[in-house]
Amino acid sequence: MSNFIRNIKGTKDILPLDSRLWLETESIIHNFMSLHGYDLIRTPVFEKTELFNRSIGENTDIVNKEMYTWIDRDGTSLTLSPESTASVVRSYIQNQLGNLSPIQRLYYIDSSFRRERPQKGRQRQFTQYGVEAIGSNHPEQDAEVILIAFRIYQMLGIDDLEVNINSIGSQESRAKYIDALKKFLIPYKSKLSTISQDRLESNPLRILDSKSKKDLEIIKDAPSISDYLNQEDKSNFNAIQELLKVLDIPFKINTNLVRGLDYYNGMIFEIISNSIGAQSALCGGGRYDKLIEQLGGKPTPAVGFAAGLERLMLILKTQSDNLVHSVDIYIISSSDKFISKSIAIGDTLRNRLGIKVINETLRRSMRSQMREANKINAQFVIIVGQEDVATDEVIIKNMKDGSQINASVDEIENYFGVDYEYK
Ligand code: HAM
Repeated sequence: MSNFIRNIKGTKDILPLDSRLWLETESIIHNFMSLHGYDLIRTPVFEKTELFNRSIGENTDIVNKEMYTWIDRDGTSLTLSPESTASVVRSYIQNQLGNLSPIQRLYYIDSSFRRERPQKGRQRQFTQYGVEAIGSNHPEQDAEVILIAFRIYQMLGIDDLEVNINSIGSQESRAKYIDALKKFLIPYKSKLSTISQDRLESNPLRILDSKSKKDLEIIKDAPSISDYLNQEDKSNFNAIQELLKVLDIPFKINTNLVRGLDYYNGMIFEIISNSIGAQSALCGGGRYDKLIEQLGGKPTPAVGFAAGLERLMLILKTQSDNLVHSVDIYIISSSDKFISKSIAIGDTLRNRLGIKVINETLRRSMRSQMREANKINAQFVIIVGQEDVATDEVIIKNMKDGSQINASVDEIENYFGVDYEYK
């Protein structure tokens, strides 16, 4: 394998045994979103670099060091999308979606790219599903977004969840708070971790997010954003909390929650699970009322979240014991003579009854074909061309109880269509 070309670090193949769970989960997400009145939006996998610089922010880790950026042949700087909110907002403005309806409920399942250090639950290409609700500045819209994020996990049977919420207030409240935070931290500068020392100038709020023990010791006495919120910020945040209580969604106010993207204002949230290791954030989001205007659209309030599908899969894989590839019927030909008859039977059963049928294509011995049927968990086999069976008949064998019957080719469809109910 010395000449063998491997995949790129931080990317992963989704192999057949896992892809089944992926498809099932994606299908649950599509249904779930539709149930809440959200429509799918698909945006390109790459955009102009400027879009991300202007939305996520020049001083964030994503823009500073994690984007896959290159200069295209015409000199334009392009970037693989590190998240979807910026692209969705770009598309919303460009396609004047606001004219179609004053509230746009959009969702996506898309690939994102960030050049982070790969580890469990952290990849360089990963998949995000998420929603963007564009048009309402009312707390019920915030609550709806948190509800969607939370209920999907609940529906999938994940109970070890912690919903953290915070309000980072309006731009003015935040500016005052950042001032106070800086004043508080400057005397401790030399005691902070190197990364936090850098952030003291570039992005002081992110220091609150630090995992360093030294930093945490200092931060615990820092001023709290909650003391800097104005009346409107406070009453919105309270109203969201009241709605979450009505919806029976447990939550915790975490005043150190800041999020790593610049476009937020007001309510922000994250849902954490402690069962997936260090990368414990299952999803995150919040309000971004200024972004649409900032990217050249009419001032329009918005709120959304995105969730890592790989992190969700880590949990679902430990819960799922049903990853075996299973088929309804495996068709066995006793000899090459019966191949055409076998494939015709398979074709009819799939087309007329919509059931999952596999035809043997390796021309193996009867014994090996039987072993294969067992291995892939076939519920039935149809044996075509068995000795001692009339030429127009086949054997239908129930693999669960071992019983078998002879049936004419015409009766097969009736047998599976009427007598057997498929999952
Ligand atoms: P984010 O917190 O950067 O927010 O990402 C959201 C989620 O994507 C994370 O909670 C995590 O589950 C997953 N994720 C992020 N980076 C990686 C990675 N390297 N590998 C695997 N999973 C990852 C956003 O992207 C915002 N656009 C969310 C949003 C939507 N805010 C408003 N609307």
